Amino acid sequence: MIPEALDLSSVPNHVACVMDGNGRWAQAQGLERTEGHAAGEEALFDAIEGAKAIGVKWLTVFAFSTENWKRPPEEVKFLMNFNESLLVRRSHELNDMGIQIRFAGRKNWRVPQRVLRKMDEAVQLTRNNSEMTLTIAFNYGGRAEIIDAVKQMLEDGVPIDRITERKLERYLYEPTMPDVDLLIRTSGEHRLSNFLLWQVAYSELLFTDTLWPDFRRKDLYDAILEYQARDRRFGGLNR
Ligand code: IPE
Ligand code: IPE
Ligand code: MG
Repeated sequence: MIPEALDLSSVPNHVACVMDGNGRWAQAQGLERTEGHAAGEEALFDAIEGAKAIGVKWLTVFAFSTENWKRPPEEVKFLMNFNESLLVRRSHELNDMGIQIRFAGRKNWRVPQRVLRKMDEAVQLTRNNSEMTLTIAFNYGGRAEIIDAVKQMLEDGVPIDRITERKLERYLYEPTMPDVDLLIRTSGEHRLSNFLLWQVAYSELLFTDTLWPDFRRKDLYDAILEYQARDRRFGGLNR
């Protein structure tokens, strides 16, 4: 299952996925958009298992953006309930796999209390795990994250000469999260849609036409093969 050409000694440390195309997947089969979100669960778990199997240490997935509140109320409601039920049904399984669950996003804005409670329970349950950190970006916006960090720095009275990139990173939603090495977006859209703006400054970007519900670990491995063929220079020169 793991392609022989995949170099296990240079697997990206942090992979991030914009799980996009659920609605179009459903519509293509004459189903409701919400069925597409439900079908995305299998893709997510296959990607998690596949990432863990090759030693990816950080996997971050975009589950709900600060802009997704613009969708019809029924879809928003479905997504809140669905994410809550996914945590209830599957956090023990993730715990058994040694996965640490974290959330990135605005906690004090719009997300129902009962969903926040389940999120907190999943974080607590898995907090000592060290196989892989799964960060679920939920009610997440990259601009909101930077604004929230700046506000908190001002509130803490951080002096201007202490404002550095390192310092700002300590105020992001997940201060220990490393930069993203590989960002994958499914569904043929070539944009970031406000995902991890700070953390993707030097990420390799990989776009695939596969719709998220069809995504499997093989697609992840294909993306990593392409990643491994890239030349990352970080502004310098590779000799
Ligand atoms: C991604 O699928 C999931 C969320 C944004 C919650 P979409 O719902 O955006 O699916 P498309 O892009 O409309 O096909
Ligand atoms: C990004 O997808 C958000 C998630 C996958 C959760 P969208 O479907 O919301 O992005 P746009 O609207 O196509 O840019
Ligand atoms: Mg979309």
